Formats: sequence, C-alpha cells, structure tokens
Amino acid sequence: TGAFTYDPGFTSTASCESKITFIDGDQGVLLHRGYPIDQLAEQSNFMEVSYLLLNGELPSKSELEQFSNHITRHTMVHEQLAQFYRGFRRDAHPMAVMCGVVGALSAFYHDSTDISDPHQRLVASHRLIAKIPTIAAMAYKYSVGQPFVYPKNNLSYTGNFLNMTFSVPAEEYEIDPVVEAAMDKIFILHADHEQNASTSTVRLAGSSGANPFACIAAGIACLWGPAHGGANEAALNMLREIGHIDRIPEYIARAKNKDDPFRLMGFGHRVYKNYDPRAKVLGKAATEVLNKLGKQDPILDVARKLEEIALTDPYFIEKKLYPNVDFYSGVILSAIGFPTTMFTVLFALARTVGWVAQWNEMIADPEQKIGRPRQLYTGAAQRDYVPLAQR
Ligand code: CMC
Repeated sequence: TGAFTYDPGFTSTASCESKITFIDGDQGVLLHRGYPIDQLAEQSNFMEVSYLLLNGELPSKSELEQFSNHITRHTMVHEQLAQFYRGFRRDAHPMAVMCGVVGALSAFYHDSTDISDPHQRLVASHRLIAKIPTIAAMAYKYSVGQPFVYPKNNLSYTGNFLNMTFSVPAEEYEIDPVVEAAMDKIFILHADHEQNASTSTVRLAGSSGANPFACIAAGIACLWGPAHGGANEAALNMLREIGHIDRIPEYIARAKNKDDPFRLMGFGHRVYKNYDPRAKVLGKAATEVLNKLGKQDPILDVARKLEEIALTDPYFIEKKLYPNVDFYSGVILSAIGFPTTMFTVLFALARTVGWVAQWNEMIADPEQKIGRPRQLYTGAAQRDYVPLAQR
C-alpha cells in the first residue's frame, strides 16, 4: 500500500540536495564546488581540496595555514587506541581493522555526541581528517609487524602519512617528493564523489543523529565491497593474474560471458557513461610516476592494452563501460610500495574528507530528516500461527 516509487539501487532517486560535488556522467565531468577535478588534481593539494570541500570556497593563504594547523594538531591518537590493533589477528585485512578502530573512536570522543553544536561538529570533522592517516598507517604497520610511528607535525599531511607508513626506527627515511606528489594527487582524486554507496551510508547513518565517528566507520564498511572502493585492490589483483597482454582476450571473453560472474574490475560506473575523468588523470600519472621513480611494471602494459581492447569491443561500447578511478590507481600505489590490501584503506583515508563534508552539509540542512526508505512487500499474506507440534 502507499504510493512509493520502486527504485532498486536508487538509480533515479535523489536523496538530498547538495552543493559539494557535481557529476555529469554522460560528458565525464566532475566538479568540486564548481572546480574541475583535473585542475584540482594538477594544481591544488589535498589540504586545500579538503578545505574547499568542507567550506565551499578555496582558502586564502592564512585560512589554509590555520586549517592545516588545526588538522596537524589533531593527528595523534589516544595511546589506548593502539591496544585495539593488538586484538586483531595479525593477518586481518586492514579494512577490517579500519572499520573496528574508526568505530572505536566514538568511544573516545563523547563530546562529539552533541552534533547540534556546530563547534563540536567542526572539532569532530578536524579530528576525523587528522586521525585517519595515523589510523591507516597504524593498520599497515600492524599488518607488517613493525612498530607504530608517531605523527610528525612539521611534515605535510601526505608527507606525514608516508613517514608513519614507511619509516622504521632503525633507518633514516626521506620522503621522495615524487611519491609525495603522486600520493597527494591520488588523495585529491578520491576525496569526494557525491552520493555514492559509502557516502549515502554515512548520510543514512548520520540521519539518525548517530556519533560521527560511528557514521564514518559505517562508510568504511560500505566502501570495502569490490563493487565500490574494494575494486582498486581487485583491479590490481586482476591485472597481475592476467600478467601478460596475450591473456587479455581470455579475460575480455569472460567479462562478456553472461554465465560467468567475472567482471573487469576497474571498469564501468553507475554514473559515468563516458571516461571517468579521475581515471584520465591517473592513467597519465601512472606513466609519469613510474618513469620518475625509474620503475617498470609489466602490469602497466597489461592495463593499457586491456583498456585499448575493451574500448574497441562492441560489448563495452554498447554498455558504455570505461575505465574508472580504480583502474590505474593500483599501478601507482604498487610502485610506491603499498600491498594491495592497503589500496582500499587509502581510498577510505581520502574519502573521509568527502564523508565529513557531506555529513556536515546534511546535519546543517533544515530539511534534514531521518533516512527511511520504504519497500514493496512481496512476502506471505497474513496467516495464523501454527503451534510447533502441528507443523
Ligand atoms: N565488466 C563486465 N561487464 C560489466 C561491468 C564490468 N566491469 N560493469 C558492468 N557490466 C555490465 C553488466 O553485466 C550489465 O550487463 P547487462 O545489462 O547485460 O546485465 C551492464 O554492464 C550494467 O551493469 P550494472 O551492474 O547493472 O551497472 P551498475 O550501475 O549497477 O554497476 C558497477 C556499476 C561499478 C558496480 C559495475 O560497473 C561493476 O561491477 N564494475 C566493476 C567493479 C568496479 O570497478 N567498481 C568501481 C566503481 S568506481 C569507484 C568506486 O565506486 O569505488
């Protein structure tokens, strides 16, 4: 009963009004607060883009300094939080660890429970953006059995993350500016993407007034799936499995076979029916970064050839399947030295900014209500209970 629109997968339902991100999927356009993603990726930096997403405008020099200082001041996590890691098996997937540890932050910041106070919302937002690199780096360190590295406040946001991830007490670690720039670009390209599954999850969780740290943990859980953020890990694993350009046709044939559940990971998108503009930037960056680092990886050739073959194949043309953000990012992350299990963690780190910006926008919206979809009931009609002895 009732006049509901049945829209499985929400393919045609706008769940909110938003001023943060604009996507034109047919043209392959992505704008943050009006600024094209390629301009931001090439000319801006992640701290500036974070400010932009949160505040609506690019910062002045002093605004950026103040914002970066606020973030830097919150990078430490409570020492007790480190104990959470030790409760996980050492071979736990870092995304499982992220879900648990970020959720656990809600137990440390009870002041954030009062989300009606804009100041508390701001503090919670800064804490989340500041602590997520520390938490992600700790997840990595735990997985490789190395000691945690504390944040260093004199480093950039991205430099600090790299230092916490790759430095070890026994050796001097110098941040390679090529790696820092590539990482920062990857963070910018993953920062927000309007009402995708994980962002909608954060909004839905937050719509009940839940603690913001718990809401972001919900977003992380959703992002983990291979149809969403987990695709970057799956894409690189797939490229490695293909291994040589000679084997590409076999995988293209599998992707087209209706009876085979296999999909080309890093291909296709709910909204883009054209080249994902983020994949364009990353495809270019992959060659540049590998060249600059003096690294060669045969999977880059596999990726390029796979793209070339897929883009000329009638199946992919007809279904408008193009490379998405997850297709080339793994090649760069792998060259930097991350294991595939960390790829989605890096996505979560960057997307935290978008989640936080969207959460703030929702809470401040006077039209905001608890998210409560309806359903089309297809189950049994009313019937009488039958006692166990008679069944
Ligand atoms: N390989 C082969 N066929 C595909 C693929 C693919 N990667 N993606 C979609 N199709 C086919 C699909 O089989 C379907 O065919 P038919 O109409 O004959 O049933 C048609 O294209 C439409 O697919 P859909 O699943 O109905 O489309 P959707 O909008 O629900 O799904 C998607 C979008 C991204 C989940 C899907 O394209 C996919 O599974 N891609 C692979 C995973 C991936 O790369 N995900 C990352 C998305 S971008 C970043 C992010 O969100 O994190």
